[in-house]
Amino acid sequence: MKHKLPDLSYSYDALDSFVDEKTMKIHHTKHHQGYVDKLNKTLQGTNFEDRSLEDLLKGLNELPDKVKTSVRNNGGGHSNHILFFGGLTSDGKNKPEGPLLEAIEESFGSFEEFKNKFEEVAKSHFASGWAWLVKSGNDLEVYSTRGHDSPITDGYQPLLNLDIWEHAYYLKYQNKRGDYVENFWKVVDWKEIEERFEA
Ligand SMILES: [Fe+2]
Repeated sequence: MKHKLPDLSYSYDALDSFVDEKTMKIHHTKHHQGYVDKLNKTLQGTNFEDRSLEDLLKGLNELPDKVKTSVRNNGGGHSNHILFFGGLTSDGKNKPEGPLLEAIEESFGSFEEFKNKFEEVAKSHFASGWAWLVKSGNDLEVYSTRGHDSPITDGYQPLLNLDIWEHAYYLKYQNKRGDYVENFWKVVDWKEIEERFEA
């Protein structure tokens, strides 16, 4: 299986209320593409060439050291960016509905409390990483991972994620990560996140 960079379902300038066109373009065609290329290079000629990305991340700790570090960084980078770019839209609704909303209210008290917790995690995470809403058994949890570590390796099902590497926001926001985090809600594709939850 040769891993590939998925196309985006929107143009690079469509999410201007969140991030600018230049950042989106570099993020997708240079950063994300780079993880895909490095992952393919690592796997080429190994026994893991045909293993799915999800299975590679699930079984990360059983991989030989040489493959493991690259799958952790580049496989995680690939998977996390598929989820991130695939969870954004320029014309979404401003909150989830149905079973996902009920689960959020059950786990966090209310949608507003969930948002506050997610923002707090994203704003306070030290260095590069990701903020997540994940499914853990019957519960939902908010947490962050370092580098490109994936919740799939931790046994969780990822639902929603926010890239908190500087490459995701620095051109538009510089050191103001808080503004970037707050603007994220303008472009979340809740329909897509509902589908991930119900899958
Ligand atoms: Fe990124």
